[in-house]
Amino acid sequence: QDGMNAQELGKLLHREPAEIVKKLFMLGVMVNQNQSLDKDTIEILAADYGIEAKEKVQEDLSNLDKIFEKEMDNTEHLVSRPPVVTIMGHVDHGKTTLLDHLRHSHITAGEAGGITQAIGAYQVRHGDNVITFLDTPGHAAFTEMRARGANITDITILVVAADDGVMPQTIEAINHAKAAKTPIIVAINKIDKPDANPQHVTDQLMQYGLVPEALGGETIFVNISAKFGKNIDELLDMIALEAEMLELKADPDQPAVGSVIEARLDQGKGPVATLLVQQGTLHVGDPIVAGHTFGRVRTMTNERGRDLKKATPSMPVSITGLNEVPEAGDRYVVFNDEKTARAVGEERAKEAQVEERRKTTRVTLDSLFDSL
Ligand code: GTP
Ligand code: MG
Repeated sequence: QDGMNAQELGKLLHREPAEIVKKLFMLGVMVNQNQSLDKDTIEILAADYGIEAKEKVQEDLSNLDKIFEKEMDNTEHLVSRPPVVTIMGHVDHGKTTLLDHLRHSHITAGEAGGITQAIGAYQVRHGDNVITFLDTPGHAAFTEMRARGANITDITILVVAADDGVMPQTIEAINHAKAAKTPIIVAINKIDKPDANPQHVTDQLMQYGLVPEALGGETIFVNISAKFGKNIDELLDMIALEAEMLELKADPDQPAVGSVIEARLDQGKGPVATLLVQQGTLHVGDPIVAGHTFGRVRTMTNERGRDLKKATPSMPVSITGLNEVPEAGDRYVVFNDEKTARAVGEERAKEAQVEERRKTTRVTLDSLFDSL
């Protein structure tokens, strides 16, 4: 089809050639009716018109959100699953120290400047319970996920330093949790410090609707010292209790769906993504589409770098095998065969390209009008 011009294309698409030229202009391509168009332009134009290209996959297959929702609604063989807990709070209030203590390792020391650079995801065992924890950086990825309607958290742990009190990001975290309708457990941290004043922090938090049970409210408060491991077991007990009340369930007997927690390009391994399994079971070898990327799960490891063959609901895993780096907050879906996954992935990549081109065209047009 290479070499076709707007006149011929218009005939094919049952549109006026002038309309084609105008549309191309909107897409940032300036041609007259007789100028021949390259293959990419024709494809993008066809996609823009929603024309069925030869290898175009069914629309509902490329709608990951729809598949995700459908799979999440599937309630055939529900079994209980671990809670997914997000630790939020103001800078330096002790989120990473708390997680560190929970998994008995020391990631703060290795982190650049002691500041969390990416969302980490870990599972810890507490008696008979398993709990999935997500550490957060500046909440940017979470804002992104929530903006896209992808809520992945069951319970929010709000860490507030007893010597510093309620700060801007504390309020931000409260608003996040409220918007996502997840219960909050307050962990007043650094109670070992001489200037710690947990009562003052409690008074402050009550102004934001977080009232302790002892005062007739519904919020669980625990005073802790993440650094010295004080009352951490009590905090875990409270999380387990809250999780029990939420009756969290998922069906492990189906293809996995879930969300991308973080992703990066590794020099040796290629794209590496941390995925949270939200329904079904993810296996090594599964054909997968994540956001606008696709591939086959080549390797799968847990947070400690141990190789896994499969991952069940609420498990965070690190995988390789995607063709590109997906974005935090992207949804992923497992398909039956690699061919479908590839077709869906390529279709979605093309859609993203059209959308990107639309955006830049809009910007170009805006600046054009501004300059007039
Ligand atoms: P960001 O990731 O930068 O938002 O910070 P964070 O909330 O993860 O705080 P982090 O765990 O890095 O702790 C910040 C500082 O507070 C570190 O120097 C910790 O050692 C210290 N700290 C954390 N918890 C406690 C505690 O319970 N008691 C005392 N005394 N210090 C603590
Ligand atoms: Mg941190």
